[in-house]
Amino acid sequence: MRVFMQSELRRLVTGSKIHRFLSLMILDSWKYVPLRKYLNFRKLSLFWKVCLHAQQNWASLSSVYDLTTFVENSRLPGALVECGVWRGGCAAVMATVAAKARSNRKLWLFDSFEGMPEATQEDLGEDAKWLSNNRMSGRLAPVGRNVASINEVRSLLFNELHLETSSVMIVKGWFQNTLPEYQRHIGPVAILRIDGDWYESTRVCLENLYDNVVAGGFIIIDDYGFFPGCRKAVDEFVERRALKARLTAIDYSRVYFRKC
Ligand SMILES: C[S@@+](CC[C@H](N)C(=O)[O-])C[C@H]1O[C@@H](n2cnc3c(N)ncnc32)[C@H](O)[C@@H]1O
Repeated sequence: MRVFMQSELRRLVTGSKIHRFLSLMILDSWKYVPLRKYLNFRKLSLFWKVCLHAQQNWASLSSVYDLTTFVENSRLPGALVECGVWRGGCAAVMATVAAKARSNRKLWLFDSFEGMPEATQEDLGEDAKWLSNNRMSGRLAPVGRNVASINEVRSLLFNELHLETSSVMIVKGWFQNTLPEYQRHIGPVAILRIDGDWYESTRVCLENLYDNVVAGGFIIIDDYGFFPGCRKAVDEFVERRALKARLTAIDYSRVYFRKC
């Protein structure tokens, strides 16, 4: 306990963790979350633990927490899936809620664990230019941004949060190569969370995994408002399939919809 307190204090003093927590988790979110909603001890303690591992604000993590809780309480069948995991913070929230429910629900995590591939011409805007390091020819080659290792994810899930290794499947590789193969191993899906930033990364997730989502299941799109390419991939998919997708905004970028 003393060692834990000391190491937490050191982090506080150096400022990195508390700075990230306040800036990303709270300041980035205050417009979308009423103040009283931050006074939730379970969420506070969990989000504090994962905040250095997630590119997410309170609104986003809280929505993932609530949707997973809903899925557990209503006993909706199917796995939890995240495509685009980075250091695993958001996945850790889903896994923690599922573990508390003791539902034996599987969590599937897909990522290159080499960071972003090149963008394409569909990925418009200055942010996409920066995130792709100006490499926009669509090759499945790492551009050196958003890089995290599979061991960082394992360490968070299994060493820090003590989650069951048997309920979590982590698949390393480009979505374009892994998803067509794993689609049949995953089976029904209760929550499909897509966080791959690019047009092609989003498109390939929807094309391969949307049909696995059960009726009443949720599809969460992290970058709908932030990256025009991601938005285009979602809008085209919804139109092509003539889906009645009512998008619910989580914050300035993230949305989710429920499969009918
Ligand atoms: C924004 S980060 C994910 C953030 C994470 N969900 C979180 O909550 O912090 C985007 C991730 O998508 C992955 N990614 C993007 N396109 C990919 C592709 N085509 N195949 C595999 N991984 C991809 C990157 O490696 C990166 O880890």
